[in-house]
This record gives sequence, structure tokens and C-alpha cells, in this order.
Amino acid sequence: MKKLITIERHFVEEQKRNPHATGELTDLLYDVAFAAKLVRREVVRAGLVDIIGMAGTTNVQGEEVKKLDLFANDKIINAIGQHGRFAIMGSEENEGTIVPPKNESGKYVLLFDPLDGSSNIDVNVSVGTIFSIYRLTGSNPQKADINDCLQKGMHQVAAGYVIYGSSVVMVYSSGHGVHGFTYDPTIGEFLLSHENITTPKNGKYYSINEGSLNQFHDHTTAYINYLKEEDKATGRPYSTRYIGSLVADFHRNLLTGGIFVYPATKTHPDGKLRLMYEANPLAFICEQAGGKATDGNRRILDIDPLQLHQRTPLYIGSEDDVLKAESFIKNT
Ligand code: AHG
Ligand code: MN
Ligand code: MN
Repeated sequence: MKKLITIERHFVEEQKRNPHATGELTDLLYDVAFAAKLVRREVVRAGLVDIIGMAGTTNVQGEEVKKLDLFANDKIINAIGQHGRFAIMGSEENEGTIVPPKNESGKYVLLFDPLDGSSNIDVNVSVGTIFSIYRLTGSNPQKADINDCLQKGMHQVAAGYVIYGSSVVMVYSSGHGVHGFTYDPTIGEFLLSHENITTPKNGKYYSINEGSLNQFHDHTTAYINYLKEEDKATGRPYSTRYIGSLVADFHRNLLTGGIFVYPATKTHPDGKLRLMYEANPLAFICEQAGGKATDGNRRILDIDPLQLHQRTPLYIGSEDDVLKAESFIKNT
């Protein structure tokens, strides 16, 4: 029988393997896993509890906010903020930074997308939560400000996501490999189900919204056409898989191999996805699993952020697939 290892037990074991660990990161990850359980509880009941449908407001992205976005946002801020371990937070749903109620001892920064794939909430398609953790740049939590949030992705101390799908899976890395945990509702625990996830060097799936074809640059169209050609030696044609929830598309490609592309387009030169709480955390996970994540040119984790909600084109997944996609850009 496989050992039953809870995510909390895994955090503690990870801490023991890291001689410099103080236990603080373990506590942070505890907080995130706890918040994930609270969000999961509502997501899996979304159709039953009156929290789906439009909340009648729009967020800083100018997108209609669905109630579950707000609910998840509030849960994460309050469930995590109450312990005072985070000095400052940044959320997709808040224009400015968030200073948690008790932050006097906080040494860390939390950036998060409380609910990714919002357009899929009402139609029972997988959605997710994405999180990214940094150390404070200064030493005084009371002085924490936006500059603590605008750090390069390479400085993340941990990152991960929760995917609320046919099962609820939490995937995280604190720089020592990528590990996945499946929620067992009968005991209320995330149990280790995917230890040391590594992503194949190349895949058979590509994920891109081909509905935007008329907005794509020629190199994007050329790359898609390349993937559709018959060539057994390179496993082509690839199959297209596009769910419309980044976390779900990323998670499938991470396990099976493949590439997710949200490119720069003629109308959106920076693409749509946000650097700080979508691209960076998933790039951290992807690289830890042996994959690659770029904006088509630069490594995502090297990008020097200027704004909390800045967008970036995103090419993420199997290394060989990302390199091939980039070659089409370089040859234009
Ligand atoms: P969010 O719901 O957090 O705003 O994220 C939605 C994102 C991402 O999850 C998904 O990959 C992408 O939007 C889909 O965008 P298109 O509908 O433009 O393809
Ligand atoms: Mn999102
Ligand atoms: Mn979101």
C-alpha cells in the first residue's frame, strides 16, 4: 500500500532536508494549503450556493468579476493574512497591494490569482488558484511596499497552484522539485499523489486560442501550421487542447508534455496573461519540472517587473516545444 503522506507532512520533510530552513516557509505553505481547502469547499458547491453568476462589478483588468473570484480572494486574504506571516500581498482582484491585518512579523510576500479561468466557473469546467511567494526585500515588515512585490520571478522562494477539477490537486515547489497532492474529502487532507513531477522534453499537445487567428503575428500562424503538418519523426500533427483555464491547460501539459502559448498579438503586444501571479509562478514550477517558460524571447523568471498587473506573452511547457516555437519568432 502506498504511504499516505499529507501535504503538511511533506512540507515538514522538505524543511528537514533543507539545513537552512527555519520552518517559516513550512508555515506559509500550511497557510496556503488551508486557504485552498476553504476555496475548494465553495468551488465544488458553486452551483448550489448562491455565489455563481456575475457579481455586478469589474476588476482592475476591466473584466466582469464573478462572485467566486471575490469569495476566493477574500478567503485567501483573510485565512492567510490572519497569521501575520505575510507582510504584503498582491492579487489579480485588487488594484493596489494588500497589507494583511496582522503583518508585524511578516517576512514574506504573497502574490496570487485567487481564481484562474473565471469564464469557466458557471459551466463546471476546471478552474484554479495560482500563488507565488517571495521574501521581503527589506527587514521591516511595516515598511513593505509595492517594490517588495515587484521582484524577478527567479527570486520566488515557492510557487504553486490548485486545480479544482474532477479531483482537486495542489502542486507546489519550494525549489526542490515539483510535487502534487490530491485532496481526499473523506479525511479533509491533500495526500501526496505526484512526487517529483518532471515534464517530458516534448509533447503532443498544443494549447492556444485559435479564435484569435486574425490577430496573430505571421510567426504564430506559421508555428501553428507547422504543428498541424504530418511528420511521424516529430510526432506531428499535435493535438490541440484548450480549456480556457490556464491552470488546467498547464497542468495537463506538465504531466503529458506539450506547450501552452498565449502570444503577443497585433492588438495585444503584451498578450493577456499577467506576469506576477500567472506566468512567474507557473514558470517556476515548469523549470523545476525540467520545462521552459519564456515570453517568446526572454526567460519569464528573468523579466524585471515594472507593474503589479503587467502582462506578458507566454510560451510554457516542454523544453523542445518552447524552443521550436521561439525559432519561428527568431526566423521572422
Ligand atoms: P482569469 O480567470 O484569472 O482572468 O484567467 C483567465 C486566463 C487564463 O486562465 C486562460 O488561459 C486565459 O485567460 C484564456 O483567455 P482567452 O479566453 O482569451 O483565450
Ligand atoms: Mn488567471
Ligand atoms: Mn483570476
